[in-house]
Amino acid sequence: MTATSANPMVSATSSSSVAGASLVTDLAALTRPDFPLLSQTACLGQPLIYLDYAATSQKPRQVLEALQQYYGHDNANVHRGAHQLSARATEGFEAARAKVAAFIGAANAREIVFTRNASEAINLVARTWGEANLRAGDEVLLTVMEHHSNLVPWQLLAARTGCVLRHAGVTESGELDLEDLRAKLGERTKLVSLVQVSNTLGCLNPIAEVAALAHGVGALVLVDACQSLPHQPVDVAALGADFLVGSSHKLCGPTGMGFLWGREALLEAMPPFLGGGEMIQDVFLDTSTWADLPHKFEAGTPAIGEAIGMGAALDYLQNLGMERIHAWEQQLTRHLFERLQAIEGVRILGPTPEQQPDRAALAAFSVEGLHANDIAALLDSAGICIRSGHHCTQPLHRHYGLAGTARASLSFTTTPEEIDRFAEELQGTIGFLREHS
Ligand code: ALA
Repeated sequence: MTATSANPMVSATSSSSVAGASLVTDLAALTRPDFPLLSQTACLGQPLIYLDYAATSQKPRQVLEALQQYYGHDNANVHRGAHQLSARATEGFEAARAKVAAFIGAANAREIVFTRNASEAINLVARTWGEANLRAGDEVLLTVMEHHSNLVPWQLLAARTGCVLRHAGVTESGELDLEDLRAKLGERTKLVSLVQVSNTLGCLNPIAEVAALAHGVGALVLVDACQSLPHQPVDVAALGADFLVGSSHKLCGPTGMGFLWGREALLEAMPPFLGGGEMIQDVFLDTSTWADLPHKFEAGTPAIGEAIGMGAALDYLQNLGMERIHAWEQQLTRHLFERLQAIEGVRILGPTPEQQPDRAALAAFSVEGLHANDIAALLDSAGICIRSGHHCTQPLHRHYGLAGTARASLSFTTTPEEIDRFAEELQGTIGFLREHS
């Protein structure tokens, strides 16, 4: 397929290994030609199987071509030059901003601030909104499933302001404990900041419900959407969020690029983040005034090519259709769970697809008596790339008494056959490690 020629009539998967898949588009068959990286062989000549999409996505050729077009044809600095190259670069850069706004249902492209990644976007909110609004004793409510990027910036803020961090827990099934969150919300809560989808549990959090609860006590809501944006439709208005952050490299786009969405009135009221060129209106020797949104938050020459590459990635995903991506990945997730649940000794964190049908297409798991790194290393020698470790969620792993887990994470390019091979190799790996330990 090419993203621009996605054929909506390709609506039946031929795979017999995914039960009940007849109404689902086989997006792997449609999209694999766009991802030549996935056709390579591994070091011992086996087909390479990439199952680490939650760490970073692969990039379709449309994104590579957009980067090539920008650097090979349009490269210039933005918002500065009167010449034609600068005009083209600026047009591409600002068009990418509009694509992000459309992708998440933002009211206005002025609400999209480009950052290096989602971590920087959260740090931006903590440093600007947080320092301007939080005082000693005010509370920021997080959850125990947060990625380190949604824990550490608030810890730094707490050290500077004396604000207090609280954490909602998880249920037995590995979902957000909404009752605990409700109990920890109060008049001191000024912000609730949480993931929409956990990169470790795979659970989908009920953001709209959390936002209604938070707004009920006058708190704002920040959503870390890094693991939801690549896999399902996300609409900031429907979520009722106040801030949302995302990362290009998990969305089929380049690294070094992310964004913050914030409600315009909030962004207007926030002081700038980093100082320098681009973010100013007038500079005097001892004082300056700030540029309009969103440039007030974008000091220095931005990652122009990367923004344009991210825009191409969003076009690609939009052309496939986020509903279609979600439906196909739901089928793959059920298949992944069926295969893993059949292997003795494998314990998967987070809700099963039966418990939460919309859960994400990943499985972080432990195997009793075995180290996740050994499992990942042996699978790698079979050509299968998965992640092992704490996945930047150390407190969550500590909650489960685990130092780390192995994690397989899927994408719309994943085939049922790849899941089958992964499960077979995992079973063999576990047998081998048990025999030799
Ligand atoms: N946060 C990314 C992951 O989950 C890097 O692997």
